Amino acid sequence: MNLRIPGPTPIPSEVAQAGAAEMINHRGPEFAELIASTTHRVKQVYQTKNDVLTLTASGTGGMEAAVACHVNPEEKVLIVTVGVFGKRFIDITRAFGGEPLELPFEFGMSADPNRIDQTLRQFPDIRTVIVTHNETSTGVTVKQLPEIAEIARQHDCLIIVDAISSLSSISVPVDQWGLDVVISGSQKGWMTAPGLAFVSCSDRSWEKQVNTTTPRFYLDLQKAKDYLEIGQTLSTPAVNLFFQLDKALDLMLDEGLDAIYERHAVLAQMTRNGVRALGLELFAEEGFESDTVTSVRIPAEVDGAELLKVAREEFGTVFAGGQGSLRGQILRIGHLGYVTESEIDQALTNLKDALQRVGYIVPTNA
Ligand SMILES: Cc1ncc(COP(=O)(O)O)c(C=O)c1O
Repeated sequence: MNLRIPGPTPIPSEVAQAGAAEMINHRGPEFAELIASTTHRVKQVYQTKNDVLTLTASGTGGMEAAVACHVNPEEKVLIVTVGVFGKRFIDITRAFGGEPLELPFEFGMSADPNRIDQTLRQFPDIRTVIVTHNETSTGVTVKQLPEIAEIARQHDCLIIVDAISSLSSISVPVDQWGLDVVISGSQKGWMTAPGLAFVSCSDRSWEKQVNTTTPRFYLDLQKAKDYLEIGQTLSTPAVNLFFQLDKALDLMLDEGLDAIYERHAVLAQMTRNGVRALGLELFAEEGFESDTVTSVRIPAEVDGAELLKVAREEFGTVFAGGQGSLRGQILRIGHLGYVTESEIDQALTNLKDALQRVGYIVPTNA
């Protein structure tokens, strides 16, 4: 099966095998060595000297940790949304008693830094801004992130970034861009199975955490940091995922970060070209299309659910559908992590075949 969804993504066989190793004592010297080594290398991928904590949780656990540890009850938070995952922060903030103030942008569009600046001028008591860097639900990368981070700093705000589906595949230089809290997840470009979340914390983040009274326990980043210092985690970690991550990081750093970013950019361009050649329209605003996931408008005459079913059952490629209000409107093609030109080629051929099978007329030169 050609799994072309934007996570979980295929994992190399040596990574899968690494996860099948014998268990070790998670409070013993082997695990201490393992977590020190993976943390050191995850920090390289984050391009940061900040602390990076690895939590046994999916990406949403990282999002929840970020909110619970930085947002006080009744505190206003600016949440910039460009899609479904941005909106999840609103629910999390509410769940922890914070007051989310949403600055929504139309699905398919990126965020406008000027509007963020205006909003922060209008609400000078806001101290935290949350942004999704790569909105997997719409296939948009908010490329203005460095500018947004600068604006947040000018307004003395902490910036929390969901880079779950970007950071391991698209360069997110955390220190250079001055990002305070950055979240990623193992099932994306990290070539590891789902279940680990990464969260980086700047000095400003730690200062804010000390002054945040919101209740938290399992996802308390300060506790994670204290345990990391003794080579452990608060509770039993997903040891086999750490084994996988260890191997995957070897592969990533052997390939080199610049080569990884270049491969993703090339494969994304190839996907976009292929989709356009089929006479289909991209959903993301031009210039802000993601290099990890391509969103495609489903033509009005095509039944989206049937198209995905035919692609999967008859041609062996699994695409993702739209989420929330985009259900039936778009399909999404994942091209992140362990992926080469031949899988993209295959996926595009299968998309063409499936489209024809459901009655869509593909341009003759496609
Ligand atoms: C941008 C983004 N944010 C958040 C999430 C949620 O992560 P998880 O499903 O691992 O909890 C995802 C996962 O698809 C994502 O792509």
